[in-house]
Amino acid sequence: MLNKITEIVKEAGKIILSAHNQENTVTAKEGKKNFVTKYDVAVQEFLFKELGKAFPDAQFIGEEGENDFSTDGLRFIIDPIDGTTNFMQDYRCSCISVALCNNNDVIAGVVYNPYTDELFSAEKGKGANLNGNRIKVSERPLSDGLALFGTSPYHPENTDETFALLRKVFDFSRDIRRSGSAAYDICTVACGRCEVFFEKGLQPWDIAAGTLILKEAGGVALNYQGREISFSAPNDVVFANPKAYKEFITLL
Ligand code: IPD
Ligand code: CA
Ligand code: CA
Repeated sequence: MLNKITEIVKEAGKIILSAHNQENTVTAKEGKKNFVTKYDVAVQEFLFKELGKAFPDAQFIGEEGENDFSTDGLRFIIDPIDGTTNFMQDYRCSCISVALCNNNDVIAGVVYNPYTDELFSAEKGKGANLNGNRIKVSERPLSDGLALFGTSPYHPENTDETFALLRKVFDFSRDIRRSGSAAYDICTVACGRCEVFFEKGLQPWDIAAGTLILKEAGGVALNYQGREISFSAPNDVVFANPKAYKEFITLL
């Protein structure tokens, strides 16, 4: 199952790498800072088509289009390009995120950064890998670690709260980072390069694959209230190694 998804996602990565003049391919714009390029649409169409052939019983949820979250059974939750602003400016840090779910349970997840050729993957109960090698979260406490955060410019209502929390995290930790791709941030914690990632209002397609990868790597993935993450609605989320999680929640 994972091999087939991986093969298709890697193929889709070639569409991202072949892109040129991305900023001039913006096809839709919601508000001041939420963009869609023709490549977001092309990658999603490719994934729906190829995954649909390989998994004919599965339903599809993808960022680019109308979605029905009420469906049961097998479904893919897909972000064709996580990090569209990075992509538009050729910042070269964007990922494809594909999760296969059974109801609200993610059973397989793949996050692929085509620029670095890093492919993070996990199957429920079978551990997490980076390019086929087992990964696990770090044992560093947040006080000696790196914290990642996100806050979307198209949700200005979250800015003040996030930056107030970030200030506390900055003082407490070794340093902070912001990549511009939530899926990549979660995987960066999963492979032990960083200790915590937090962001308000993330959508199921940003986090579904990463949540499984992080948990299979021994990490904690919960919402700000300490409850399980929903894959049918936006979430305020924390992804961390267990030690860093305990420190982080004292700052919330
Ligand atoms: C965005 C990225 C970003 C995060 C935003 C997301 P998109 O996804 O993951 O890091 O801060 O909240 O919306 O729009 O590039 O797919
Ligand atoms: Ca996204
Ligand atoms: Ca996207």
